[in-house]
Amino acid sequence: MHIRPRRNRKSAAVRFHAQETHLHVGQLIYPLFLFDGKNIKEEVKSLPGNFRWSLDRLIPEVESCMKLGITTFVLFPAVDEKLKDKTASYSYADDNFYLHAIYTLKEQFPECCIMTDVAMDPYSSDGHDGFVHDGQIMNDETLPILAKMSVAQAQAGADILGPSDMMDGRVGYMREALDESGFTNVSIMSYTAKYASAFYGPFRDALDSAPKAGDKKTYQMNPANKKEALIEAQLDMYEGADYLMVKPALPYLDIIHLLKENCDIPISAYNVSGECAMLIAACQNGWLDYEKAMPEMLLSIKRAGADVILTYFAKSFAQMKADGKL
Ligand code: PBG
Repeated sequence: MHIRPRRNRKSAAVRFHAQETHLHVGQLIYPLFLFDGKNIKEEVKSLPGNFRWSLDRLIPEVESCMKLGITTFVLFPAVDEKLKDKTASYSYADDNFYLHAIYTLKEQFPECCIMTDVAMDPYSSDGHDGFVHDGQIMNDETLPILAKMSVAQAQAGADILGPSDMMDGRVGYMREALDESGFTNVSIMSYTAKYASAFYGPFRDALDSAPKAGDKKTYQMNPANKKEALIEAQLDMYEGADYLMVKPALPYLDIIHLLKENCDIPISAYNVSGECAMLIAACQNGWLDYEKAMPEMLLSIKRAGADVILTYFAKSFAQMKADGKL
């Protein structure tokens, strides 16, 4: 035998030489749930270790994450039921606590990168990402609402907007609204291939944002489809997206790979709440070793082709790096 692949695995030093994929803390985006009020840090039951924060408690949390090397945060608002309506008007209201939080975080930590969520569901009395009329999710009627939300978030100082709604044409529509308002430098990370997945459960618990009727299958993609992700990717690139996202990540590694091979802008993947919850649950039962399984999970997403990963494990991965465990 002249060729022995095991030679490149013989020691930690040699294994590192031969390592093809590296995951850096700067490639992770940390999702955080925001709640209006003061002194609130409330654990999301179905996502242990993750919390709904009021802004005063969130500020030191963001600071400690930044000390660990996390640069980018994606914020999601948990909105009081009383403020929800059919047109998600609170999403761009002047006294919106989410917009205020973006502004305050950027003021306190100008170097941090803040990503937002653009979709109606946290603010909608119907719990859908689009405007509902006669039980239908209306595509074109939703676009001006998303555009208003986008401009409001850009005004608050957001660096990257994340349309997660899956309406057709929304990236181009948002881009135009942003540019017309002078926000040519605000980026769009489009949820390009977002599937109608069962893995969003804990997130909807965190925001109380589950649909009041029906499901999201008329706008989110069919989990059985792959080629369709390329159509979505082409449209988003053509409409001016700066990043393309695949969501969820683990059950869709083939889609991450497909977009990485076919598109020349950065690819991101959302390691969603349900993926994280199932790993946490197995570890709590003693069935998996958290410090081994968690980094392996993130590395697999990177290896598939993701340049950046949105993950609830961002802080604990960063902590493990800081502790010299990785
Ligand atoms: C909705 C939105 C969802 C997530 C991010 N934005 C849920 C949904 O589509 O119902 C899920 C994220 C996660 O599960 O971690 N606009």
